[in-house]
Amino acid sequence: MLFEPIRFRNTELPNRIVMSPMCMYSCKEGVVNDFHFTHYTSRAYGGTGLIIVEGTSVSREGMISPEDVGLWNDEQAEALSKIVKHIHDNTETKVGIQLAHAGRKAGTRNGEQLALEDGGWETLAPSPIPYKPEERVPHELTKEEITEIAQQFAAAARRAVNAGFDLVEIHAAHGYLLHEFLSPVSNERTDEYGGSLENRSLFLMEVIAAVRKIIGEERPLFVRISADEYAENGWDLNQSIELCKSLKTAGVDLIDVSSGGNIHGARINVFNGYQVPFAAEIKKQVGISVGAVGLITAPQQAEEILQNGEADLVFLGRELLRNPYFAVQASFEMKEPCFFPRQYERGRPRQ
Ligand SMILES: Cc1cc2nc3c(=O)[nH]c(=O)nc-3n(C[C@H](O)[C@H](O)[C@H](O)COP(=O)(O)O)c2cc1C
Repeated sequence: MLFEPIRFRNTELPNRIVMSPMCMYSCKEGVVNDFHFTHYTSRAYGGTGLIIVEGTSVSREGMISPEDVGLWNDEQAEALSKIVKHIHDNTETKVGIQLAHAGRKAGTRNGEQLALEDGGWETLAPSPIPYKPEERVPHELTKEEITEIAQQFAAAARRAVNAGFDLVEIHAAHGYLLHEFLSPVSNERTDEYGGSLENRSLFLMEVIAAVRKIIGEERPLFVRISADEYAENGWDLNQSIELCKSLKTAGVDLIDVSSGGNIHGARINVFNGYQVPFAAEIKKQVGISVGAVGLITAPQQAEEILQNGEADLVFLGRELLRNPYFAVQASFEMKEPCFFPRQYERGRPRQ
């Protein structure tokens, strides 16, 4: 199944192998450069079915670090469009982009919050609760500011469409702004954005609606969530399932199922495929397409996840950092068809 094409709306992926979004922290002013061009086009030449470009901030304050990719101006969009065009013109890979806002986890370097005098900035959050106790207290967003950020997601989505991206993924995981609203640990609001699960989900639902309006009915929309944040009375699988029912109704095409990131010091038991059961449960309970991610490193392991009906796509992160040719090599091993650059034909293994 790994090399069976799959369609989401008007976009057909040539196979089920996805490059998981991974921040490279290598931009100036949010503009991608030759490093990113080489990095992403290599994974496309390696046969990856779908590349999701790293967490890309919808605003300056939303950057995890000053070196993040941004998509709030035309220069940033233009630089990204060159990568997308090259991949479309030369390979079969489809390209998406993950739109993000880091919320209270913005303004860091190597995971440490930057002091204001070192280029840090005031962070934004649903409630004035820092991620780590020693960090600055984030600004509690007003309703007007929440609406403004939803519009920033929409504006970035418009630039993504114009830059030629095939799909958009909204980052609502890993303790960044949208996840902060979902979790009762980071959201103590008393207005319509806090309290019940429905209220905590409202901001994400508004972002989804605003982005869908821009990208239209033909382009797929994915959402990455943390299915569990490993905290007592925190965000968990049951709430994720309820949220995903609403996301399905709202026309989201796939849930990219990750976990963690909102609770500093949370203990996570990490092992091969450790997040796959979350994806499988969401797929089963909600009847929506899901992506599995987390320590998937071997073709047979990926194939099994698909064969077991646990996920529709497999997302690979670090394995694709080690091996940009993962997909095409897997296809040789499994004797399945996969894109291979015509220039490299003489390197094809003899069957
Ligand atoms: C260098 C690096 C950067 C990452 N950046 C992002 C990101 O921008 N957005 C995101 O949702 N996850 C990010 N992640 C998480 C990965 O997408 C993936 O979920 C995680 O690495 C687990 O998959 P793996 O075991 O295949 O690496 C990052 C991971 C790494 C290693």
